[in-house]
Amino acid sequence: MSPSEDVVLRVDGLSARYLNDGKIIKAVNDVTFDVHRGESVGLFGESGAGKSTVGYAIMGLFERMARQMSSSAGDKEFKELWKLRDDARRRGLTSADVGRDLPGLEGRILFQGQDLLSMNEEDILKIVGKDITHIPQGTVMSLNPALSLKVQIFEAAWASGRQGDLPHKELAMSVMEKLDLVDFGDPEVRMAMNPTQLSVGEVQRILTAMALLPRPTLVIADEPTTAVDNTIRNWILDSIALARKEEDLSLLMINNDRTVIAETVDKVAVMSSGYIVEFGDVAMVLNSPGHPFSEDFLLSFPTMEMMRKIREKGLRLRGIPGSPPSMADLPSGCTYRTRCQHCKEICRTDVPDYREVEQGHWIRCYRYEEIRD
Ligand SMILES: Nc1ncnc2c1ncn2[C@@H]1O[C@H](COP(=O)(O)OP(=O)(O)OP(=O)(O)O)[C@@H](O)[C@H]1O
Ligand code: SF4
Ligand SMILES: [Mg+2]
Repeated sequence: MSPSEDVVLRVDGLSARYLNDGKIIKAVNDVTFDVHRGESVGLFGESGAGKSTVGYAIMGLFERMARQMSSSAGDKEFKELWKLRDDARRRGLTSADVGRDLPGLEGRILFQGQDLLSMNEEDILKIVGKDITHIPQGTVMSLNPALSLKVQIFEAAWASGRQGDLPHKELAMSVMEKLDLVDFGDPEVRMAMNPTQLSVGEVQRILTAMALLPRPTLVIADEPTTAVDNTIRNWILDSIALARKEEDLSLLMINNDRTVIAETVDKVAVMSSGYIVEFGDVAMVLNSPGHPFSEDFLLSFPTMEMMRKIREKGLRLRGIPGSPPSMADLPSGCTYRTRCQHCKEICRTDVPDYREVEQGHWIRCYRYEEIRD
């Protein structure tokens, strides 16, 4: 991707591998994209494609989580492989240099020019929760059930540092403003409540307000509307849109819902089996997808117009045939080849390069030009 001064986030050749039951899970593979200041980029694709893992990697959560998960599996090899990862990192080596797949992260994640992957945890915590915040898919467990909302929201505000300089009264007003933004009813009354007294929709609105409170540079929203009804979905998306407009916020929207992607992002990265297979302007990718996976995946969300055409032509709605390959045992060559109707011999040996086929439009497919023509 071309270098640019207003790039807020640059993910460059990122790979993320879990170790589970002695097997390496290739959850994210050679992922590269930029998010510019004020821009919204979507990560879109089927379940298990690696979208959330990209988010965890940016927020510095991936390795701690991956180590915990593999240690709870309890096998001996996990310790040796993580030790190999730590040794390789100290020596500046990658899995390719060592000659075997290692768990953990490789590549670069540049936030405002600083490589998050080369920072220690203490330095990452100066950025995450302040300049980069997260809206997770909310459950009551996302908040501490033992503390009132007031304590948790104020703690988040103080921890973010920026708001920490404000006197208590001004901080309280700033919190109220954000709660107003997400239409939280009477904030005075609600703030005295405990999270267990809230519905999932209310928890999701609180999490959204908490992520917007520090006036971050980048918000990572991971399926923020999946568990809520339409009214709350609209409140949440509107409050993010308003914050973007007022505060020049950049957004990484992780979602597998076409309508959320269409409404909220400027550019979209389509992910399949840990790879970005297509990246480009959202209207172009959604209306005229260039990668066979994007096309097949989008056909599982037919628009009214598509349904009309399908009915007129007497066709049946076609989903993606078969299941995605196991991330512990990806096929050689293009990972979509076992499900792709355009697969030819060339697709079987090496992973296709990720290449710019038109300005700003990136594709990972050998046969893009032939299929297009
Ligand atoms: N802690 C973990 N340990 C081992 N494998 C994991 C772990 N978390 C996720 N995975 C695997 O990594 C792959 C990517 O998962 P991820 O959650 O990033 O996908 P996703 O695109 O966010 O999916 P969804 O749309 O369902 O949220 C999947 O194959 C998943 O099973
Ligand atoms: S590289 Fe081959 S198998 Fe993969 S998407 Fe393109 S045509 Fe299909
Ligand atoms: Mg996910």
